[in-house]
Amino acid sequence: MEKENIKVFKNIDQLSVFLGEQMINLINQKQENDFLSIALSGGSTPKAIFRYLSVHFREKIDWKKILFFWGDERCVSPDNEESNYKMTRESLFNFIPVPDENIFRVFGENEPFAEAERYSEIAKNKLKTIDGVPCFDLMLLGLGDDGHTASIFPGNDKVIKTEKIYDVAQNPYSGQKRITATLTTINASKKVIFLVTGQNKSEMVFRILNEKETQRTLPASMINPQSGELFWFLDEMAAKNLKL
Ligand code: 6PG
Repeated sequence: MEKENIKVFKNIDQLSVFLGEQMINLINQKQENDFLSIALSGGSTPKAIFRYLSVHFREKIDWKKILFFWGDERCVSPDNEESNYKMTRESLFNFIPVPDENIFRVFGENEPFAEAERYSEIAKNKLKTIDGVPCFDLMLLGLGDDGHTASIFPGNDKVIKTEKIYDVAQNPYSGQKRITATLTTINASKKVIFLVTGQNKSEMVFRILNEKETQRTLPASMINPQSGELFWFLDEMAAKNLKL
């Protein structure tokens, strides 16, 4: 990992400012009638970031130029506290001018395998594809302290090895079914940004960024965009074990 692709910020607000500015730059690179496709991550880290953007970037980002997808979603209804869609609506969408037709929700309430298939088709139809794989302009990822990312958990070889676009995964701790973008899809993205904050992630951040090529057993260390760029946006607590 090139050192310049690792950005360390004093706190999550400064990380959010940088991400917001990156989004503005990416939108400005788009043609008049083209959209920026973003796959959002779930969990608590993006919740704080989305809240910050909804206040400080409401007027700065041309939100109607963005197509919103998810990198993963819990197999729950959209009004369930566990829903990444609900979290995003309540921390971002309710405060910005995003057209409903630009939000592509994963139907967590549907039968998981049918939904993974349906969502894969949506992504293929809405995005540019290479060899049948949709290419997101921007894939936002979180990092679990066990080394999972999106809903690709360590040891889930079926999901790790699949060539599907989206697949059905399971949180091994709760048994909760998830719909997740696969490594095939994540690694086809033009830009992948890990958004990681908090001291509880510092050991895993160090491990992922220092693992040798041959030791890559954790899903987060298998993120290696074929022709895209990979960035890590960290706060000082998550980066505390790194020597940069
Ligand atoms: C999810 C996420 C998951 C998350 C990590 C980190 O749906 O939960 O996609 O991969 O990003 O578990 O979550 P935190 O940001 O809450 O630590």
